[in-house]
Amino acid sequence: MAVISYLTKIQFDFGAIKLLADEMKALGIKRPLIVTDKGLVKTGILDTIRANIPNEFDVSVFDGTPENPTEAATWEALNIYKENGCDGIIAVGGGSSMDLAKGVRLLATHEGPLAQYAMVEGGVARIRPDVSKLIAVATTSGTGSEVGRGAVIVLEDGRKLALVSPYLIPNVAINDPELTLGLPPVLTAGTGMDAITHCIETFLSLAVNPPADGISLEGLRLASRSIETAVKDGSNRQARWDMMMGSMMGAMSFQKGLGAVHALSHPLGAVKGLRLHHGTLNAVFLPAVLRFNKSVVGDKYPRVAQAMGLPENTDIADAISKLNAKIGIPASLREMGVTDDVLDGIAVAATKDHAHPTNPRTPSVAEYRKLLDEAMAGN
Ligand SMILES: [Fe+2]
Repeated sequence: MAVISYLTKIQFDFGAIKLLADEMKALGIKRPLIVTDKGLVKTGILDTIRANIPNEFDVSVFDGTPENPTEAATWEALNIYKENGCDGIIAVGGGSSMDLAKGVRLLATHEGPLAQYAMVEGGVARIRPDVSKLIAVATTSGTGSEVGRGAVIVLEDGRKLALVSPYLIPNVAINDPELTLGLPPVLTAGTGMDAITHCIETFLSLAVNPPADGISLEGLRLASRSIETAVKDGSNRQARWDMMMGSMMGAMSFQKGLGAVHALSHPLGAVKGLRLHHGTLNAVFLPAVLRFNKSVVGDKYPRVAQAMGLPENTDIADAISKLNAKIGIPASLREMGVTDDVLDGIAVAATKDHAHPTNPRTPSVAEYRKLLDEAMAGN
């Protein structure tokens, strides 16, 4: 059975942010809540966004999005939304702000708590179409959440779970690579590897969706050819365009489902006190998971190698390790500050993650524990 769905309106180009006011009018948004984070306010990007919103709009701002979005912060943002009589949301940022904004649009019309809407709790069927309007303005190239159905949020009980529904896909995505020109190398590398992981994991997923396969391979081609340049020279416009397109395409295709890399990085990213970057974690897990999946993927690894511009017989796990080293990704989880005491819990949590069932080879708890050991040691 194949379920294939593509509907998102995307404004993609340098200068696309100039279309924000038109898109707000088209959606009937007059009193938007901007959902963003303090880091982005400091970079001046929020000022750029506001300069593109005429005075006739009554704008409120929530800039308290945490590094990993939480349910508590979602409620805080919702309070501002309600106090100011907002009628729509503009998410400005990377995955955290966009995912938090999806939580706010849901709670604007649905009763809490958020846990009941988590995919693993059977929440998909509880999310109705009457969520509030959302325009997503991407400022990183990695998550692709601007075209995604999911919001990954750390719930009150500490679990980092995905809320998934076609009704959570933003009404409009604005992808303006200009907004990413100032993204520092460390974030360009981490978010870029998130995009590359999306393209690879979704291509390997067992779900039947050939259009998504084609999109993921083209996204992988664009991101692979430009990630090193984007990290080395952030002002390279072609590289920034490629990275943003690769990121967006990775997310358009991951309706097929992701895999063991994300099943591991979701719970590890939720560990309090560590504050681990999602894309960087994926980059560190990816070689070990590629080796684990190798026996069940048929002819797919040569096709991945080809999309990456490498000879078809390339060991792609090694190629990813080398790429990681070139762009400054840490060599191991240990180097990122992960300690052995959390690993048993992460191995169990990975088997319950929504990305687990679509990995081409189903890892047991013991196999996840081994993958964690490999990633702790480094590749
Ligand atoms: Fe991701």
